[in-house]
Amino acid sequence: MSKPVVLDLKDATIRFGGLIAVNKVNFNIHEGDLFGLIGPNGAGKTTCFNLITGVYTPTEGDIFFKGNRINGLAPNKIAARGICRTFQNIRLFGSLSVLENVVVGGFLRHRTGLLSALAYLPPAIHETAALRVQAMELLEVLDLADVADVRSRDLPYGKQRRLEIARAMATGPELLLLDEPAAGMNPNEKEDLAETVRLIRDNFGKTILLIEHDMKFVMNLCEKIVVLDHGEEIAQGPPAEIRNNPKVIEAYLGEAV
Ligand SMILES: Nc1ncnc2c1ncn2[C@@H]1O[C@H](COP(=O)(O)OP(=O)(O)O)[C@@H](O)[C@H]1O
Ligand SMILES: [Mg+2]
Repeated sequence: MSKPVVLDLKDATIRFGGLIAVNKVNFNIHEGDLFGLIGPNGAGKTTCFNLITGVYTPTEGDIFFKGNRINGLAPNKIAARGICRTFQNIRLFGSLSVLENVVVGGFLRHRTGLLSALAYLPPAIHETAALRVQAMELLEVLDLADVADVRSRDLPYGKQRRLEIARAMATGPELLLLDEPAAGMNPNEKEDLAETVRLIRDNFGKTILLIEHDMKFVMNLCEKIVVLDHGEEIAQGPPAEIRNNPKVIEAYLGEAV
């Protein structure tokens, strides 16, 4: 029996002036999937995340989360329903500690944005021991517990990326969107990250959609992949099919990987 559909894009489209950044894209993700979104630079991958999270509203088409249409909802409403993301360009609170960054994630669940969450932070941090405990648990999972008190801007890059994931997890999402989580990591860090992502899915029951350029990383980790090129979906399927798909090879891979 197949698991229920969590996310369903139906002809999702967005135009910026004359440019169609995402053009009638269709894919659906089932509960517990570890799903990859790949394609050349400028293909529309991050824009898909922006559509799913409500940063942009599709100009055509619809997006459903657990059967309910979410396009048109404000980003905080979508986050509250259980979708959270990390960013291609890391967005941490550099002057806050690692632990505090994750606690902010916990607050974000029902607040309108990062700034308003931050405004509430100092008193709340003292009041909410429970959030701190939960945050520490997440840091253990992401292997960041030993740097809990370090200012996030002082962390090495690979750890900052892991911290972004910890913070996203703190919002309690069902669906986690990771935008190039392995970018800038060395091969060892990438291997550790792949293990962590798998653990988040297996032990925490999350559904995961990730964008990544490292084909070895994507092909080893993801069970299903959708490929975009110039805003259009050119293929989807399991890694073994994608890696041998002539259209994908021509548009992106260059040669079979
Ligand atoms: N807010 C925007 N206004 C105008 N063009 C945009 C905007 N956001 C993205 N684009 C364009 O949409 C295309 C897809 O961008 P993006 O989704 O960031 O690509 P990817 O993440 O696949 O590298 C690019 O041509 C980009 O310049
Ligand atoms: Mg991008």
